[in-house]
Amino acid sequence: MDLNLTGKIALVAASSKGLGKAIASQLAAEGCHVMLTSRNVEQLASARHEVQAGVEGRVDSYPCDLASSDDIQALVAATRKRLGKIDILINNAGGPLGGGFEQQDDAAWQAAFELNLLSYVRLIREFLPDLKLRGGRIINIASSSIKQPIPGLILSNVFRMGVLGLSKSLAEELAPDNILVTTVAPGRIATDRTAYLDQLKADKRGINRQQVVTEALRNIPLDRYGDPEEFARVVCFLASDACSYVTGSTIMVDGGMVRGY
Ligand SMILES: NC(=O)c1ccc[n+]([C@@H]2O[C@H](COP(=O)([O-])OP(=O)(O)OC[C@H]3O[C@@H](n4cnc5c(N)ncnc54)[C@H](OP(=O)(O)O)[C@@H]3O)[C@@H](O)[C@H]2O)c1
Repeated sequence: MDLNLTGKIALVAASSKGLGKAIASQLAAEGCHVMLTSRNVEQLASARHEVQAGVEGRVDSYPCDLASSDDIQALVAATRKRLGKIDILINNAGGPLGGGFEQQDDAAWQAAFELNLLSYVRLIREFLPDLKLRGGRIINIASSSIKQPIPGLILSNVFRMGVLGLSKSLAEELAPDNILVTTVAPGRIATDRTAYLDQLKADKRGINRQQVVTEALRNIPLDRYGDPEEFARVVCFLASDACSYVTGSTIMVDGGMVRGY
């Protein structure tokens, strides 16, 4: 199967580590020109270096706080100037704060809205003229919480549903422009984020992190956390020309964790 990604231009949001970096690496390995972005400048430079190693396409990076409208405008302008008009937009962001309803104040709700939903809206709005030119792909990274709320993670449970609503709505609105919009939902993929959440749970219960992992595995039929590369391969397929008749769909990458349909 030919993914036909060579020469395509992709922006991968929140890509200095974890899922975003794995997606950027995979797209670059398939021949895309890739723009990486996140806040920490050193970590971003190091990720760019890593992604560029051994690939022929251009790999660039531009620092951006995805919660800031001004930063997003600057990122979009820099991407157009340095790489050109994008074909593929991967929406991703840092995870929201952990905790249940009673732990969140207005500032926490507002911050999660701006980072985990509004940043997706803003990037799509800004890049839409580019994506309309040749038809394109928008892939919104969400969470298994769109199928099954995660206890102690209310900000994810609420705002990921907004991402899902956005994806489903845009799949229809943008179909005439041949822009395919999908949602990809990770279950438990081994990244710093998963380690942070497991530690949070462990601290709350006074147990160690490995015990939390052992308990989590009981609910994962494949009996392990996923690898970021396994997640990125699915995203890469959805971003490719090989995937030409899938839009509005949600793909779970969770080792079978969510039992619902
Ligand atoms: N890993 C999983 O199994 C899993 C499961 C469900 C949902 N998710 C969600 O998927 C997303 C990615 O997860 P991950 O595991 O890859 O997390 P991660 O390893 O913690 O990486 C997060 C990335 O986001 C960047 N970032 C954070 N805040 C940002 C901001 N305000 N502006 C720009 N970049 C920002 C970070 O860089 P800087 O800090 O330098 O900005 C980093 O590159 C998160 O929203 C997470 O909640 C992940």
